Amino acid sequence: MSKKVLLSGIKPTGRPHIGNYFGAMKQFVDLSNDYDSYIFIADYHALNFIQNKTEMKENIINVLLDYLAIGLDPKKVTLYKQSDISEHTELAWIFDTITTMPYLMRAHAYKDAEAKNKEIVVGTFNYPMLMATDILLYSPDVVPVGADQKQHVEISRDTAEKFNRIFGDTFKLPELMIIKEVAVVPGTDGRKMSKSYNNTVPLFAEYEEIKKAVMSIVTDSEEGIPKNVYAIHNLLRPASELLPIYKSKTGKYKELKELLIEDLEKFIAPMRERRKEFAKDIPKALAILKAGGEKAKKVASKKMDEVREKIGVNVYEK
Ligand code: TYM
Repeated sequence: MSKKVLLSGIKPTGRPHIGNYFGAMKQFVDLSNDYDSYIFIADYHALNFIQNKTEMKENIINVLLDYLAIGLDPKKVTLYKQSDISEHTELAWIFDTITTMPYLMRAHAYKDAEAKNKEIVVGTFNYPMLMATDILLYSPDVVPVGADQKQHVEISRDTAEKFNRIFGDTFKLPELMIIKEVAVVPGTDGRKMSKSYNNTVPLFAEYEEIKKAVMSIVTDSEEGIPKNVYAIHNLLRPASELLPIYKSKTGKYKELKELLIEDLEKFIAPMRERRKEFAKDIPKALAILKAGGEKAKKVASKKMDEVREKIGVNVYEK
């Protein structure tokens, strides 16, 4: 029996943090034996935010190294970047033609920008359409993501349904995979960990950076337990181990933070070192990305042929 398909990706917009890791990236690794996995770099999504050639190139290579360093094995996982597969942007246009403006105006990213009175580029407005193509071209069974991507995956399901209704059964409806305990990993201030809130613990942080991030954790406490420190610590150790320690050190925030620093260092250091090894041979890493792109392209172009046939633009004899 062939394996089920898993697909997910991240935007190359800066350094990943432990929220990205526990919310999504860890699942990519944990499930790579059980699923036929497609993991990609969403560089055309990042273009909405990064409009600088050098930075874009660096960010793409960085995400590639991040993927390899967390343990994604290119023998098991197809690693590629979105811009290598032109079918994504082609299909996005087709989805644009069946999607209404009011429907996309309900998307969180658009509403947030509007609430802040920010000018929104068309690329950001259409982001959910491009994301729907990322998913639907590969017919995945599951899409592991953090809670903030829930709406986007739902939009891709809606879009698949709509296309199937108009043109006939073409796209498989993907299932969201969100792990409840890590759906929203909190940052150093207790809000969702996010680059834009400046409250992150970088995934490949050096020891001094880990220390700085932990020392900046806001120590709001409940019954003597600093809840933001505990919430991050709980990503690394189960409550059964952690609670007795926190209870025996009620109010001793400094000691608890020091313990968290040590635990984070133990967890991060091996990945950080592995990343340095991969960084010594960038051409080799890029060859992996290119080969992954060629493999993904075959799947995407087959689906696109089917789409062109269904919508009626395929007029030539085969
Ligand atoms: P991105 O790059 O913002 O985030 C990558 C993944 O990390 C998850 N995440 C979190 N999970 C839990 N707690 C947090 N604090 C936290 N912060 C981030 C995100 O939910 C995501 O799973 N649009 C996507 C990239 C994308 C994609 C796709 C994903 C493009 N096309 C197709 C899946 C399928 C994004 O911007 O993720």
